[in-house]
Amino acid sequence: MRFIITKDYEEMSRTAADIIAAQVRENPACTLGLATGSTPEGLYADLVADYEAGTLDFSQVQSFNLDEYRGLPGDHDQSYRYFMNKHLFDHVNIDKARTHVPDGSNPDADAACAAYEQAIVDAGGVDLQLLGLGHNGHIGFNEPADVFPKATNCVDLTESTITANSRLFDSIDDVPRQAYTMGIGTIMRARKVLVVANGEGKAQIVRDAFFGDVTPRVPASILQFHPDVTVIVDAEAGSLCPQA
Ligand code: GLP
Repeated sequence: MRFIITKDYEEMSRTAADIIAAQVRENPACTLGLATGSTPEGLYADLVADYEAGTLDFSQVQSFNLDEYRGLPGDHDQSYRYFMNKHLFDHVNIDKARTHVPDGSNPDADAACAAYEQAIVDAGGVDLQLLGLGHNGHIGFNEPADVFPKATNCVDLTESTITANSRLFDSIDDVPRQAYTMGIGTIMRARKVLVVANGEGKAQIVRDAFFGDVTPRVPASILQFHPDVTVIVDAEAGSLCPQA
């Protein structure tokens, strides 16, 4: 594991964007795994700036997002499809037909999740998977549990996640209670993993996830076993880590 502490959010974002840009330049037809949340907004803005500067070409890139709320159609302003269009896809030359997000509008959870997992397999797997980190250690929407979910699955969101994400909805009652998410197994099959986290609110979970025990109670901790993972945090999120 490479663990990088940057001085602030801007440097975290730029460092992560450079790793994604390098992946695309090395293999223009690569498959990216993408994430939502406040944390990656800055790095997406940096990738858009690279594209506008003419140094990055997304025309052959394919992408798979980690997760989507169950019940939200792609045009809902809190859906993750909407987020990706707003922060990245609408601003670069990626072919939207090659961008994939689990189908939150499909009420058949088993069918939606199985189709998504198969689409990733058919694409040859993910080359570089970007991850944010939930306050409880979730990655994608894989919440603390007794086991690590193997494949794309439908999860019941925990109260802490519903509360954390309610800041983005009109009221907490509007937050969906379930989501479709790549499983921990799906994430671990990505050839490279890139994790970003910022702010003092993430300091304890960053320490637990990357320097604590490996346990499904802290889903991100399994990444300690991934052969090619880079974690980039700002100084606040890294403040409780042994090397800080
Ligand atoms: C959500 C997403 C995660 C994300 C996490 C952290 O629940 N499903 O993929 O990593 O929140 O979000 P933020 O970056 O806003 O702290």
